[in-house]
Amino acid sequence: MNPEERYLSAIKDAQALVQQLAQGPRKTATLSPEVAEMLAGLSVAAGETTAVPSASPAPATAPPGANTSLRDLAEIVRGCQQCSLHETRTQTVFGVGNENADLVFVGEAPGADEDAQGEPFVGKAGQLLTDIITKGMKMRREDVYICNVLKCRPPNNRNPNPAEMSCCEPYLIQQLAQIKPKVICALGGVAAKCLLQTEDGVGRLRGQWHNYQGIPLRVTYHPAYLLRTPSDKGKTWADIQEVMKVLSGEISPQI
Ligand code: URA
Ligand code: URA
Repeated sequence: MNPEERYLSAIKDAQALVQQLAQGPRKTATLSPEVAEMLAGLSVAAGETTAVPSASPAPATAPPGANTSLRDLAEIVRGCQQCSLHETRTQTVFGVGNENADLVFVGEAPGADEDAQGEPFVGKAGQLLTDIITKGMKMRREDVYICNVLKCRPPNNRNPNPAEMSCCEPYLIQQLAQIKPKVICALGGVAAKCLLQTEDGVGRLRGQWHNYQGIPLRVTYHPAYLLRTPSDKGKTWADIQEVMKVLSGEISPQI
């Protein structure tokens, strides 16, 4: 691609992302001045004649129908500098697994191992998730799709802050829109909060079906929490068994 084609392609990706975001639960996106300026700059550099976003933060809404492939999205994420986590990451951690998976697990954010390897859930908590999938569900890790709310590691594994979550949320929305799984399993409070737009904790949210954009969603404990609180493993196993019932067609939750 020549530079002009690259610019146009970047604009197309960005437009698709904004459109996809508009289909998500919030319906609006706010561009930071930096991003708005960057997009405007791209358009001018590419000789685009259509309207460009102003440099002031403005709510952007767009019609549905956008389609950014997971591959393109991963590329956008790789270059993302929307929040300060890009300064401390080794690399982005986009997601792994079957892009046509029936089941998507959504965790919180990469930790040190994930930041080093570029793959979600590969550390201690990841081993527990892998055991749940392989030993519990009798599936292969490659059969499901695994990702996080945040694509970059928060330093010292601190909790994601609201600004980081709102920067990264559109990527997760887009991933789920592309994969269109039959079931989503939110691992822990951060994933549940992001996907269900709720302040309720895992203890209150688990044990029932939720609706994420028409997809049945189950909340369960985060594997890192289960490592600290093994007495709750049985509750997660009960949640996972419900997930398996949906996957096998034994139940269709009324959501
Ligand atoms: N914890 C998470 O939430 N995600 C990972 O990828 C690893 C640990
Ligand atoms: N709180 C969380 O955020 N996650 C859990 O898994 C349990 C409690």
